[in-house]
Amino acid sequence: MSENIESVLHEERVFQPPQAFAAEARLNGESLSALHRQAAEDYEGFWAERAREEISWQTPFSTILDESDAPHYRWFTDGQINVSYNCLDRHLAERGDKTAIVFEGEPGDVRKYTYRELHAEVCQFANALKAQGIRKGDRVVIYMPMIAEAVIAMQACARIGATHSVVFGGFSAEALRDRVNDAGARMIITADGGHRGAKIVPLKAAVDEAIEHGTPSVEKVIVFERTRHGVPMVESRDVRWQDAIAGQPQACEPEWVDAEHPLFLLYTSGSTGKPKGIQHSSAGYLLQAILTNKWVFDLHDRDVFWCTADVGWITGHTYVAYGPLALGATQVIYEGAPTVPDGGRFWKLAAEHAVTVFYTAPTAIRALMKLGDAFPQGHDLSRLRLLGTVGEPINPEAWMWYHRVIGGERCPIVDTWWQTETGGHMIAPIPGAVATKPGSCTLALPGILADVVDEQGNTITEADRGGYLVIRKPWPSMLRTVWGDDERYRKTYWGMFDGRFYLAGDSARRDADGYFWIMGRIDDVLNVSGHRLGTMEIESALVAHEAVAEAAVVGRPHDVKGEAIVAYVILRGERPTGTDADAMTKTLRDWVAKEIGPIAKPDDIRFTEGLPKTRSGKIMRRLLRSIAKGEVITSDISTLENEAVIAQLQGKA
Ligand code: PRX
Repeated sequence: MSENIESVLHEERVFQPPQAFAAEARLNGESLSALHRQAAEDYEGFWAERAREEISWQTPFSTILDESDAPHYRWFTDGQINVSYNCLDRHLAERGDKTAIVFEGEPGDVRKYTYRELHAEVCQFANALKAQGIRKGDRVVIYMPMIAEAVIAMQACARIGATHSVVFGGFSAEALRDRVNDAGARMIITADGGHRGAKIVPLKAAVDEAIEHGTPSVEKVIVFERTRHGVPMVESRDVRWQDAIAGQPQACEPEWVDAEHPLFLLYTSGSTGKPKGIQHSSAGYLLQAILTNKWVFDLHDRDVFWCTADVGWITGHTYVAYGPLALGATQVIYEGAPTVPDGGRFWKLAAEHAVTVFYTAPTAIRALMKLGDAFPQGHDLSRLRLLGTVGEPINPEAWMWYHRVIGGERCPIVDTWWQTETGGHMIAPIPGAVATKPGSCTLALPGILADVVDEQGNTITEADRGGYLVIRKPWPSMLRTVWGDDERYRKTYWGMFDGRFYLAGDSARRDADGYFWIMGRIDDVLNVSGHRLGTMEIESALVAHEAVAEAAVVGRPHDVKGEAIVAYVILRGERPTGTDADAMTKTLRDWVAKEIGPIAKPDDIRFTEGLPKTRSGKIMRRLLRSIAKGEVITSDISTLENEAVIAQLQGKA
């Protein structure tokens, strides 16, 4: 990340909201100031008013914020809602025939769903889930390709009060099994396979393998037929989606749940080897999904929104499965890779479906930028009016390309900072009101008290001095806990400053205008192509291989992926060289793909006889990071037992 940081440090370009955009925007400078003022004067009143305005409540709430079990904060506790009702039913009268989803598969198949059709399919699948014995509070794992049925499955769970946990289809059978077991899921919803990168991703095979390796809680598997490549079905356990819905009515009374009812769990990486199940609420989560789609994406009824994220990540929850639907918007869902059949696929999709608001990750922008301007220029992108990015700091070069080539210099760019834990955007420009600077996520949203503090928790007022990014007050869409591990929740997010504020795990600085610039993670979490990976997780995967004695994993800057994964490995036997080293590298890369998933494959593996450690036996990660970057080592390495190891770590010996 540090190269990005260096390059954004001196960024001085400022882009004012285009007048034409601002004139029609939902929020302008004045209305935004009014919201900020209200939040400052009456924090709880501000949130209560938003919640009453935006959500259709079955039972209205009277308690706004319950702090009795802090830091397990609860919001709108005595209210009752159903998230699926808020996303579907409430639009039927006025928008029943409006397109909710335009789905395009990687092979080019297109299917559109109106709100009425989507409602019918969600209801029917919800009834199927009930018929299979799923009840309110049960956990259901969804392991699917990026197809409309993934959203239907999520909405159906929400409708009956089942808590879903979507596992990204790129995760391996092993990673799937761990998540299924941690959640204690009774059911897995999957597909035979998905189309990605002109190949079939064999999802059902991975589910079979996960279950074979032990998932005692799983009773049923529902299999949607997408690729139709013929997968074995296990009698009495596996049910075809088509068979499950056959004969089920297309109406299903929503299950009214408490505001705090867990809508979903989503596993994400942290500092230890074990991913954490981030638990989100129903009402508080939904509220931020609605507000940010309005405020930050400025979604209007006439817009066509496309967020390219997979539902396996939080972005695909808030900005595909829930937020746009809660607003009654039209959105595009695309199954496959951006480069199939060629580097113009995203732009072709955007043009053909008349996309107006487009949201993607810097890594995708950098990858597509490398392919040249001819691809985007070959498509009519004139309908675009707003662009967004998420997941990692965007380098100004990529920002400028996005602005110039994709946005035709007329579209504001919203760089949105948030996390799995925050549920929705936290720091992001309001496009009709806030000027942008390439590489900065600008200012906190109304009601979000973001701050940068020093080790003691004092606000850093000096411009451009880095510190810890924190949120000073609980907010409705925050995570409620780590599933099954309250202690980890309290320690990770509230431990450092004695429960005074939420620790995001990022470092950041503010410039003289108060704009936030995210500098990177402060923990051992890597950001590879906008995806969070714990170094400890990859290390545990490596040492699980019989040939490996010890491993240390760090990141190094990568011009497309943001960060690349470098693994230093000590084998049980001799240190391999030449073709032996190449063969072992391949074995270990494939091994990590099997243990976690292809996204976690180390880019470089360096075999060594020793690792640099402190006197107390801790691996000197900072030194390893410098070596990975190819920096000259100037720090004190006198504690190293064997200086020859440095040459090995540098790959020179
Ligand atoms: O380090 C920050 C980075 O991604 C982390 C959150 O990752 P995850 O929970 O997987 O969610 C990604 C999608 C919301 C953050 O702690 N990050 C996210 N957005 C940005 C960012 N870094 C810089 N700029 C952003 N806009």
